[in-house]
Order: sequence, then structure tokens, then C-alpha cells
Amino acid sequence: MTAALNKDTRNTWHILGPGAIGCLFACHLQQAGLAVRLIGRRPEHGVRRIRLNTDNGEQEQVFAPDHPAQPITHLLITVKAHQTTAALQAVRQRLTAQTLIVLMQNGMGTWQALQDLPTRRIVVATTTEGAHRPAADRVIHAGRGETWVGTLDPRYQADAARVCRDWSATGLVVEEDPEILHRLWQKLAINCAINPLTVLYDCPNGALLNNTEALELMQQVCREVEQVMGSALGEKPSGLFELAKAVSAKTSSNISSMLQDVRKQQQTEIDHITGYLLDQARRLGIACPCNERILKQIKAR
Ligand SMILES: NC(=O)c1ccc[n+]([C@@H]2O[C@H](COP(=O)([O-])OP(=O)(O)OC[C@H]3O[C@@H](n4cnc5c(N)ncnc54)[C@H](OP(=O)(O)O)[C@@H]3O)[C@@H](O)[C@H]2O)c1
Repeated sequence: MTAALNKDTRNTWHILGPGAIGCLFACHLQQAGLAVRLIGRRPEHGVRRIRLNTDNGEQEQVFAPDHPAQPITHLLITVKAHQTTAALQAVRQRLTAQTLIVLMQNGMGTWQALQDLPTRRIVVATTTEGAHRPAADRVIHAGRGETWVGTLDPRYQADAARVCRDWSATGLVVEEDPEILHRLWQKLAINCAINPLTVLYDCPNGALLNNTEALELMQQVCREVEQVMGSALGEKPSGLFELAKAVSAKTSSNISSMLQDVRKQQQTEIDHITGYLLDQARRLGIACPCNERILKQIKAR
């Protein structure tokens, strides 16, 4: 099935970073009746066709070309964390004080890169949807999950609610989370506990559970992360090691995105995962020798 191009363009969503997750959301948003434009590294002049494979079969969405002079009213950022500053540079002139931005990435710390934009209407989202892109025009929706939306600035709570309302029409599970900072930290904690270890042991998530040395390392990582997270949020989180093991078991055959990046010889998101944790640890005066060592080892690759 190929979707038509005639959409209401008053509330166009521009997707900055049409990779696996960007295209997944682009296809679902357009299918739900919203106008969508894709912004990649290079301007595209013709329409762009994306085939999306889901458990319901294959559908094709046709995206009208982006007009680089058109102001952006709604921007969904789905570049990898370390690509954010450069990607925003290219669209900066098109943002206004009214632009609504949704930042949807793994890792933390890119929020700061958005501080000097013309708009303060910034909403953050974190998703457990799984997608990969075997070809530029093809996206596989590999695993259904949930997307949580919230804002770090309570003045923009209504924007988060509106994003949830609009995106719920896609059929994806999209919920508002008034405690989004807590959820972002939880995701960061799990990422710290699993992703770098899969790189060090060059294995799928589940294989960490059969490796005594990896499990000991995971436990040390979790102890340090709990201290930092607890201090940052003013609470005493516990049970991270058990949770990390449960996630490794549930996603046992997955190759983590960090290991995929290393295998493709691409930059990883480690600076926004373990790196962010260590920045916060330094700020809070907490020693994290195990995570320090891991960061160095990953960056040396
Ligand atoms: N994939 C998942 O299942 C999943 C699940 C949850 C969270 N996430 C998170 O979502 C974020 C995106 O992940 P992903 O898997 O979708 O990565 P991805 O497939 O690499 O997508 C990133 C996209 O951004 C594009 N890009 C890079 N620099 C750009 C620039 N300056 N201007 C415009 N576009 C630019 C890339 O283009 P090129 O292709 O030319 O490099 C690529 O298409 C990451 O933070 C990831 O951790 C992913």
C-alpha cells in the first residue's frame, strides 16, 4: 500500500535524522494523517519513498520534499546524541520562538545543546520501540515498545500532553510521564550496565549472563550508577543489577546499538551514556572508577 501525499501541512512534523527510529515515527505519523518532512544530512529534491515492515506486513509512505526556506513548526530530533549539535546547526535559521521540539534519543546531556535556540518549547521522549534500517528506503519495526513523553521545564507540560495526544493517533503506545527525568535516568542506568559491556565482550545482550567476569563487572557498574542516580534525583534507587540482568535476558539475542556502532566503525553514544554519568558523578563528588575504566576502554576502540 502506498500512502498519498495530500496532508494537512499546517502542523508539519519535520524529522531531523531520518534513520531507523526517525523513519519509524515518520511513517507512523504520516499514516496517522499528519504532514511529515524528512531532513537528512543532504537536501533532497524529489519525493522520498520509505517501505516500513511491521508484523502487519509492508506499507510504503511517500514523503514530499522538505523546503529549506520553510519555517519549522514541529521538530522531532532523532539523530544520535553526538550528532545533535551539528544537525541543529543546519536548521537553526528555520526555528522560531513557537517551534515545538521533541528530543528522542538514548543517552543524556544533549538537552544542553538546545539551550541557545530561539525556542524554549522543548519536550523529551524516550522509546523502547525497536527499529533498524537495512537500506536507505527500508525500515524494519523489529520490536513493539512504548514511548514516554515529558518535559524538564514545567512551563511546557501542555506541549508534552499535546504531543502524546497527536502521536496516539499513530497506534504506537505513547504516554505522558510527569517524571520524565526519572525515566531518562532509568534508561541511562540500563544503558550503562549493558551496552559498554556488550562491546567489551563483543557479544549479544544475553551472553553477558553466562559470563562470570562480565556479570561481576555489571554488578560494579550498577553499584556506582545507583549512587550517582540516587544522589542526582535525591532518592535511593536500588535493584539496578537485578533489573539489568532481567533486561539482558529479555533482549538476549539483541546486538546493542553500541556494539553495532563499533562493528560498523562508527562513533558510539558512550559520551552521552557512561560519559554523562561520569560528568554527573564529578559534579556530585562521587568516585566511579569502574565506569571511568570502561569509558577509556570503549573510547580506545
Ligand atoms: N533504533 C532503535 O531501535 C532505537 C531504539 C531506541 C532509541 N534509539 C535511539 O534513537 C536515536 C537514533 O537511533 P537510530 O537507531 O535511528 O540511529 P540511525 O539509524 O543512525 O539514525 C540517525 C540518523 O540521523 C542522520 N543524521 C546524522 N547526522 C545528521 C545531520 N547532521 N543532519 C541530518 N541527519 C543526520 C543519520 O544519517 P546517516 O545515515 O547519513 O548517518 C541517520 O539517518 C539514538 O539515540 C538511539 O540510541 C534507537
